[in-house]
Amino acid sequence: MAFKASNRSDIPMFRALDILRQANEKAAQGEEIMRLEAGLPCFGPPPQVLEYARDLLKNDPRQTYTEALGMSLLRDRIAVYIRDQYGVDLDYSRIALTVGSSSGLALAFLSAFDAGDKVAIFSPTYPPYRNILNTLSLQVVEIQSTPETDYQPTLELLEACEEDLDGLVICSPSNPTGTMIADDELEKICKWCDEKGVRIVSDQAYHGITYEQPAQTVVKFTDNAIALNTFSKYFAMTGFRLGWMVLPEELKDRVKKLSESFFVSPPTLSQHMAYKVFDHTDVLDGYVAHYKKNLDILKTELPKAGFDKISNAKGAFYIYADVAHLTDDTEEFCSRMLSEAKVSTTPGVDFDVARGHSTIRICYADETKDIEEACRRLQQWQK
Ligand SMILES: Cc1ncc(COP(=O)(O)O)c(C=O)c1O
Repeated sequence: MAFKASNRSDIPMFRALDILRQANEKAAQGEEIMRLEAGLPCFGPPPQVLEYARDLLKNDPRQTYTEALGMSLLRDRIAVYIRDQYGVDLDYSRIALTVGSSSGLALAFLSAFDAGDKVAIFSPTYPPYRNILNTLSLQVVEIQSTPETDYQPTLELLEACEEDLDGLVICSPSNPTGTMIADDELEKICKWCDEKGVRIVSDQAYHGITYEQPAQTVVKFTDNAIALNTFSKYFAMTGFRLGWMVLPEELKDRVKKLSESFFVSPPTLSQHMAYKVFDHTDVLDGYVAHYKKNLDILKTELPKAGFDKISNAKGAFYIYADVAHLTDDTEEFCSRMLSEAKVSTTPGVDFDVARGHSTIRICYADETKDIEEACRRLQQWQK
């Protein structure tokens, strides 16, 4: 008897995982690999938050479910944070806690769009947008951004799009490029989307990790967008799987019902920790200063290794390099870099199906000494 497997789950594998596997294998054989491929902070939550979690578990080991949208206390705390960060006043009822922002993405797409709706993404992009949209039978309209627009959407690119869009996904600072949308451009995009009835899903996963100007939120310019945030990046609570979304009024109940059915509630211990982590942003800002130092090193040292076409990174912990002058097959290139230079980076093909064969992503969320050593090795390798 042949059993059916769904077509909807037949999504592409992350080819980056192949490099990850190769790097793991080499590390297991005792090779000292400089790991610039994974998108993880090298830090954990502030020690005070971990201490708080230990005490909590001692006193209340049960950690039962919370409300589907999360603890009111935490939602209220997030509303205060949003007011402090962006000067935007929100009722806490518009805030929903999620299981990482990954589940927020699924909830956003499910609550806002129907099968067949057209949603634009700008490549290079975080691959799960494309995968989740496809899985939900939405039509993905992939628009190519360029270094001239800092690999970000612009009003001009949107106006040139001939499709009748229902939605638009944006991400600033971006994974994989680290580039940002300027505030005035974001305002124009929000206005255009409001006029056209295009629902924006703004992935704000890297807000807080910015080096020049703070990132702006869509919520400042429109009440119709969905904004997604996470405790995984700036807050360094990656494995604790907690994120939040800011919802338009008309989607609040829908997201609540979906959350109840899909997830019951977000992780309880993580919610307690998240409540506490807002008291320790001084520690988190220290992490950001660390990333900034690493970025400065890369900006100086990468060109000396021949990687001189690099993205105008101003946030997150990624830099995107155009290596078309060195290869037209970055999967092979990254594999060779790993074997010969012992530095692992990510080929661009996951982020940009059409042009990623000539780009790579470099993650600099690691120890500074490793970033320096990686640069030395790459310079030697490209001599
Ligand atoms: C742009 C972007 N959005 C969302 C996520 C998902 O993060 P999480 O589910 O841990 O919140 C990531 C993770 O790397 C990311 O880079």
